[in-house]
Amino acid sequence: MNTNENEHEYQQNEANDTLTNQQGHPVTNNQNVRTVGNRGPTTLENYDFLEKISHFDRERIPERVVHARGAGAHGYFESYGTVGDEPISKYTRAKVFEKGKKTPVFARFSTVNHGKHSPETLRDPRGFAVKFYTEDGNWDLVGNNLKIFFIRDALKFPDLVHAFQPDPVTNIQDGERIFDFISQSPEAIHMITFLFSPWGIPANYRQMQGSGVHAYKWVNAEGEAVLVKYHWEPKQGIKNLTQKEATKIQGMNFNHATQDLYEAIEKGNYPEWELYVQIMSDDEHPELDFDPLDPTKLWYKDDFPWMPVGKMVLNKNPENYHAEVEQIAFGTGVLVDGLDFSDDKLLQGRTYAYSDTQRYRVGANYLQLPINQPKKHVATNQSGGQMDYRTDYGKDQNPHINYEPSLLDGLKEAKNPGKEYEPYVAGHLKRESIDRTNNFGQAGETYRRLNDWERNELISNLVNTLSACHKEIQNKMIELFSKCDPDYGKRVEDGLKKVHENDHGPIGATMTDEAVQQANEMGHVS
Ligand code: HEM
Repeated sequence: MNTNENEHEYQQNEANDTLTNQQGHPVTNNQNVRTVGNRGPTTLENYDFLEKISHFDRERIPERVVHARGAGAHGYFESYGTVGDEPISKYTRAKVFEKGKKTPVFARFSTVNHGKHSPETLRDPRGFAVKFYTEDGNWDLVGNNLKIFFIRDALKFPDLVHAFQPDPVTNIQDGERIFDFISQSPEAIHMITFLFSPWGIPANYRQMQGSGVHAYKWVNAEGEAVLVKYHWEPKQGIKNLTQKEATKIQGMNFNHATQDLYEAIEKGNYPEWELYVQIMSDDEHPELDFDPLDPTKLWYKDDFPWMPVGKMVLNKNPENYHAEVEQIAFGTGVLVDGLDFSDDKLLQGRTYAYSDTQRYRVGANYLQLPINQPKKHVATNQSGGQMDYRTDYGKDQNPHINYEPSLLDGLKEAKNPGKEYEPYVAGHLKRESIDRTNNFGQAGETYRRLNDWERNELISNLVNTLSACHKEIQNKMIELFSKCDPDYGKRVEDGLKKVHENDHGPIGATMTDEAVQQANEMGHVS
């Protein structure tokens, strides 16, 4: 029986499938607007019509400024409780990593530079973002498929994206604009080497790796920290596409990756990834020829082994694309106790950008949407704003005391779950690059570690794009590739000469069918 006399349950006179408007009014005619006579004019007092059209006019929200095209799914993460042969608690007190713990997750995969309905076959990094709904609140691991990034300073991000996204005049992506920027940003040459190889077009979302890219920190119960990098390894194997394969798929289906993920899950063929970490002590590591906080660098497996810490299984498709995949909001600042930031400058810049854009893209109360809400109790004095629908801000909360501290009542600060991690920071404020930039060493190593057919494809793709660029940009790029490895520079130079001599314009993909076959058996570059 209803105890509140203001709450009524009306006897349903209509069947449950009766169409209503959003006010609950039955819609008796959904085919004809209300007009004076059957030839019009239309009258504007017609609420059903106004509501329907006005809501339709607002069906879209701004798409993400990057990573607009994506697909996602629900699942869980199960932790092993160990790292190497040690208990994980030696390094982190995060409860999500306790032995055998299962945490619900939502993962969203994406392309980066084009719009919400662009082809999924494009040469582009792929986003790999996972929201863990942990018992301590949400943790977002917002990564990419590749393990490094183009730049190391967040100030350069808008320029990087402008160069890769379509020309503001023609609205066409232009290799000349891309390489104009890259030729002046030598730190990007390592990422470019991956991107123009077959690693730049993963075959689908299920068969690609993921990486947190940055160094983060783990903090244990004693308040001690280590540096940590995260990597997702697909149990389905890794498969990348040659340019020729991608072009063929694009001609038939430009939604192939979304379709592949959706259909696999519908069939019960649930994709799985194992989560690995690499650990380094939290210091500057002068013995390395790179800075451990530099996101343009790999931590080589031989020096810093990959250690499995858990697995993720995706086993449920979203019920509604807009409500879940479109409105989910990830951010690098969303960490839980036991997980922390490093001083990676790119990471720190990112951490501002995500929630800032989401307050604009989704709205000030984006964290109240079911897909973004933590699955634990939320009790906050933050309130109001558009679409704040809550009437009880916390289950046992005194509704009058929406401030803290208070002698009367209200919310109280939480107890600190462990010893605070308090790194010491001192130095001059400056605008300066890091010391150990070493822009070419690892890029050359990556070039040499590629398989022959991957290297051939890399050269072919670079020559193809660079052949349409200004001579000065071509020369600068040859200089940079030569600094990575003389053979790398020479092959690009020879390829460009050949195009020039034959005067046949961009050469297109040159992969033999045999090499295309090999694309199915990918090795690991790092
Ligand atoms: C999405 C900014 C670097 C991975 C986004 C969005 C912004 C952004 C504004 C849209 C978010 C939204 O609308 O919800 C930046 C800035 C960066 C940066 C300023 C550097 C300073 C990176 C890096 C990675 C990355 C290095 C990979 C490690 C992603 C992913 C998404 C995303 C995966 C899509 C998340 C989703 O599926 O909703 N980024 N980003 N970004 N970014 Fe970044």
